[in-house]
Amino acid sequence: MKIKKVTKAVFPVAGMGTRFLPATKSIPKEIMTLVDRPLIQYAIDEARAAGIKDFIFVTSRGKSALEDYFDHSPELETALKRAGKTDLLEILKSTNMDSGAIAYVRQNRAMGLGHAVWCARKLVGDEPFAVLLPDDVIAAEKPCLQQMVEAYAETGGNMVAAMEVAPHRTSSYGVLDIDQDNGMIVRAKGMVEKPKPQEAPSNLAVIGRYILSPKIMTNLNKMKQGAGGEIQLTDAIAEEAASGKVFGYRFRGQRYDCGSKAGFLQATVAFGLSRPDLCEEFGAYLHDMMALQKAAQ
Ligand code: UTP
Repeated sequence: MKIKKVTKAVFPVAGMGTRFLPATKSIPKEIMTLVDRPLIQYAIDEARAAGIKDFIFVTSRGKSALEDYFDHSPELETALKRAGKTDLLEILKSTNMDSGAIAYVRQNRAMGLGHAVWCARKLVGDEPFAVLLPDDVIAAEKPCLQQMVEAYAETGGNMVAAMEVAPHRTSSYGVLDIDQDNGMIVRAKGMVEKPKPQEAPSNLAVIGRYILSPKIMTNLNKMKQGAGGEIQLTDAIAEEAASGKVFGYRFRGQRYDCGSKAGFLQATVAFGLSRPDLCEEFGAYLHDMMALQKAAQ
């Protein structure tokens, strides 16, 4: 079986980000900063490491800061060069994207993740493609999408990143109905969106990294015609499970849900502590805070 290489990635960033209001009234959630880089930068770096060449953003009104972020900034570059700040210049340059590498499509109404992905159908064409949700940030030695691309080269089909969650948390995720469990790779016979714990087929939850076949766009197309409310990506993927073409991949790494306030704060602590330039001062501060809290109890 010849499996086509994945070179395109879709970044759905058209959501309203209501959990971060009032900040998201004027700042796109994906521009919010984890230590010193916006969430979207982590997703872009992960995609690049996995061999992605074409970056497709599904945006909406009020997301122009996101588009501006990827523009080159000649004035800033000149000023840093003049001031001899070469380290900052290198950091700045590493965020530049080549002309034509990013394409933007609009989602006119927030009709769900499935609908957002469907909006990219013409740019994706008849090829497998990755989907990355920037609010899922994954700390990993080998970037998560790269792990998945390597596994996908063996399986083909559709692959979703999966992780075990506490049974009472299944109602926050898409959950896999497992057919065959081969350790890192699981073949799914179904997928259920946000099941109640007593109805969940497993506690293996799907998080925001996918490698999908163009067939998913066809499935979304059918749903688009019949749908009244939100269009779920999970349902379009689940349609492929009956023919054995959906795989869950238990990635190695730590995922942070930066779409929630608690997850964002946890990621800030973890990424702050992992930075050589910050860990000593920040670690000492956290240590003192804990001691103060203990003393107050
Ligand atoms: P979320 O479920 O986190 O929704 O979307 P949200 O609107 O971003 O945030 P809350 O729940 O209101 O706080 C998951 C991903 O899907 C994208 C979001 O931008 C995010 O990356 N999305 C969601 C769209 O692009 N369009 C949609 O209609 C819905």
